Amino acid sequence: MNDTVNNETRATERDQAVAAAMADIRAIAPGPAERDQVERILARLIELAAHHDLFPAGDFPPLDDDQRPSTMYRLAEDDDHRFALYVNSCRDKTEAPVHDHTTWAVIAGIQGQEINRFYTVTDEGTPEQIDEKVVEAGTGVALVGTDFHSIHIDGGALNFHCYGLALEQLDERRWFRPSDSTWQTTMAPGKIAEARPGRR
Ligand SMILES: [Fe+2]
Repeated sequence: MNDTVNNETRATERDQAVAAAMADIRAIAPGPAERDQVERILARLIELAAHHDLFPAGDFPPLDDDQRPSTMYRLAEDDDHRFALYVNSCRDKTEAPVHDHTTWAVIAGIQGQEINRFYTVTDEGTPEQIDEKVVEAGTGVALVGTDFHSIHIDGGALNFHCYGLALEQLDERRWFRPSDSTWQTTMAPGKIAEARPGRR
């Protein structure tokens, strides 16, 4: 079997594994997801990430023409923009400042390490760290829409990011800007590469 056939076989098997996972996730959280549901979604994504052979880093290269240090590959999104799954591919270092999502958000590791810090917002309106977790193969984090986190990668990482609603639809999110201690709502998502069946 040559490389082209291998690549096509892997892509087909990956599409099927992603479709099965997203069907399960739709069933877990048909409406807004609470803590128990996001934890079940996380368990399902860790199961998907365990298929290392279907998600090799070489299939998700950080795009050279992207000015951002990491690239999102869209693996799934419903027609109504719900249930969006991405592979986030970071070549080396990246940081995301403190933010919420306004929908549920689940991250599961494939390779490398992504540090997630969690925050509460004080009465003065500033974030205060309350927890930290390392996302790597076999682990992940699960957030409801009102949770705040920041992301820190050093040394490259590949992981799943799954959201109740696609990133382009999340225009009410809050991002904390430490330079002047203000909250922004206008941070547009970076370039998103298509990895859905029939759209690659
Ligand atoms: Fe986030």
